Amino acid sequence: MVGTENCYNYSNAKMIDLHNHILPGIDDGARDLDEALEMARMAVEQGFSGIVATPHYGSGQFFSDINRVREVVRELNQELVAQNINLTIFPGMEARLTADLLGCLSKGTVLTINEGRYVLLELPAMQAPAGFENFVRMLLNSGKRIVLAHPEKNIEIQRRPEIIYELVTLFKPGEFLVQITADSITGDAGVSALTTAKYLLENDLTHILATDAHSPTERPPLMSNALQLVASIVGKDRADKMTREWPRAVVNGEIADWNLSPRKPQKTKRRLRFFFK
Ligand SMILES: [Fe+2]
Repeated sequence: MVGTENCYNYSNAKMIDLHNHILPGIDDGARDLDEALEMARMAVEQGFSGIVATPHYGSGQFFSDINRVREVVRELNQELVAQNINLTIFPGMEARLTADLLGCLSKGTVLTINEGRYVLLELPAMQAPAGFENFVRMLLNSGKRIVLAHPEKNIEIQRRPEIIYELVTLFKPGEFLVQITADSITGDAGVSALTTAKYLLENDLTHILATDAHSPTERPPLMSNALQLVASIVGKDRADKMTREWPRAVVNGEIADWNLSPRKPQKTKRRLRFFFK
């Protein structure tokens, strides 16, 4: 187990949601404890036994405080036990790529997933910044690994999804993981996100399926439909890995058997030059 005394052990075969804004009153996720508990009940109904709480860091006005996040995770876990809801919340954050993110990570002002080696990293909405691969390399050199949050929602990656192929194959298996979101594959996040998510799945470029839930009603923690749709593209075994085995490995800070065979898209060279200029 990698991490600090604040991390939690996890060894359950049920689904685990690696990206979820369930913590009450921290960011634009659950507004209060009632909403958080409703989200928790929905998640259990969907088949989850664990959720990584990933409030925003560096996105808009949100710079969640690590000690506050730890405290609210502890309180919510206590409340879940009191309410007989069989779900464990793990600490984490969704870190937006900013100029000082590496500094923030080394200063310890950003929480990694379950305080282990994996960073849930979000790109700016509009672009995949030039030189991003250098940032990834620096992060890897510091001992971290990356889970890239919902690249299918990034405008530039929607235009040129082969960027993800280049990144996944540039690094060793497991160093750069890709998380897609349930509402992308169900079409609820729009046609571009759906098309891109399908492209990534069809080309063996995704590792994790998560909900990125924000509330019980707007962006709820639903997975069943997405899981079926993903299974229809990559098979049930892979869909299970993306929601069980692999997220569990990330939560536990382990290196899993990432047996993907990414497919090379057409016109990669031209697009690679543009991206890595
Ligand atoms: Fe998120």
